Amino acid sequence: MNFSLTEEQLMIQQAARDFAQTELLPEVIERDDEQRFPFKEVKKMGELGFLGMMVDTKYGGSNLDTVSYVLVMEELSKIDPSASVIVSVNNSLVCWGLETFGNDTQKEKYLSRLATGEIIGAFCLSEPEAGSDATSQKTTAIDKGDHYLLNGTKNWITNGGTAEVYLVIAQTDKEKGHKGINVLIVEKGMDGFEIGPKENKLGIRGSDTHSLNFNDVKIPKENRIGDDGFGFKFAMKTLAGGRIGIAAQALGIAAGAYELALKYSKERKAFGTEISNHQAIAFKLADMHTQIQAARHLVYKAAWDKDQGKDYDLSGAMAKLYASQVAMDTTIEAVQIHGGNGFVKEYHVERLMRDAKITQIYEGTSEIQKIVISRSILRN
Ligand code: CAA
Repeated sequence: MNFSLTEEQLMIQQAARDFAQTELLPEVIERDDEQRFPFKEVKKMGELGFLGMMVDTKYGGSNLDTVSYVLVMEELSKIDPSASVIVSVNNSLVCWGLETFGNDTQKEKYLSRLATGEIIGAFCLSEPEAGSDATSQKTTAIDKGDHYLLNGTKNWITNGGTAEVYLVIAQTDKEKGHKGINVLIVEKGMDGFEIGPKENKLGIRGSDTHSLNFNDVKIPKENRIGDDGFGFKFAMKTLAGGRIGIAAQALGIAAGAYELALKYSKERKAFGTEISNHQAIAFKLADMHTQIQAARHLVYKAAWDKDQGKDYDLSGAMAKLYASQVAMDTTIEAVQIHGGNGFVKEYHVERLMRDAKITQIYEGTSEIQKIVISRSILRN
């Protein structure tokens, strides 16, 4: 058993840490306030290779392992989870899905531009009545011979307004249930494709979340990924990896809040001494540190499983379930340690607390992770 990171992984981790400090931190509060998408920061992350981290170099990717990817996600999320969710969706859900299941033509046409960050992508599964219950797709993709006719609405789509390429899951044959679902590549600007208003969110406010409407959008058959009826499996397999990315985001949020609380506790004085000298605070820090380290082990292990070609449905779901709980608990404690200052924006912890909540909701709620985990342990 080896718990050490390689030289290359340490370098990538440091590069992400430096980038987060120099490029993400300066305007993070303003972006959150104004719900401003980090356009220039995303462009720079593309240049650094953060948007196609696991993609083959022949498609413009960085060809790195999943462990490196979670290290980057963790570092970016310590400072700006709005930026890191853009990275996560583009890497795990869009690039990985296209590279693993797309054909050569689709990869040449879309993947190279997505992996370099020239454009970004979105993954469109959730609907007004199909969030957790993902088989109940109401969006339809009716087979019309050489094309599909796409109709319906998707909700809460990350990168919804800024993406150029959308992987849309839709029902082709209701009789066949989940085996009648397809995944189609949809381009911004196709006739009948409308982007709904931007959501006004509690957290990750710098990211861009929209509903999408499809009204008789003609999608050429060659834009279907995989065989007819592969869409649900595509979504499940892709989300299983996506959950590792979001688990790393949750870990980063927790670690970021903890680092701020630790520093603050060594500076702030009360009752004649630094507050870290009071056991009430020191014990909080001890719990936070222990829980974050436990979450880190789960997240890195899930990433390692994926890199080793092992099954990662269970380890990814456990990592997401636990890390998102730790993110929530730790950020609440970090605000508490900061006292009145914790309630003020310039100390960052209130924003991290707001950002933490979504990690228990998207890419499968905590309850969904428990379904995945319990099914897996009961099956074996
Ligand atoms: N890999 C491969 N196949 C899988 C799979 C996986 N991980 N999980 C399920 N499947 C397959 C099953 O084997 C089954 O196929 P067969 O019939 O051929 O055996 C099929 O998919 C249906 O599986 P289930 O019967 O288990 O399906 P279910 O209806 O009981 O639901 C669920 C399973 C786990 C609850 C699923 O619906 C689910 O994951 N829901 C949550 C969806 C989700 O995460 N949404 C998030 C939206 S995306 C997002 O948030 C992105 C963003 O913007 C950040």
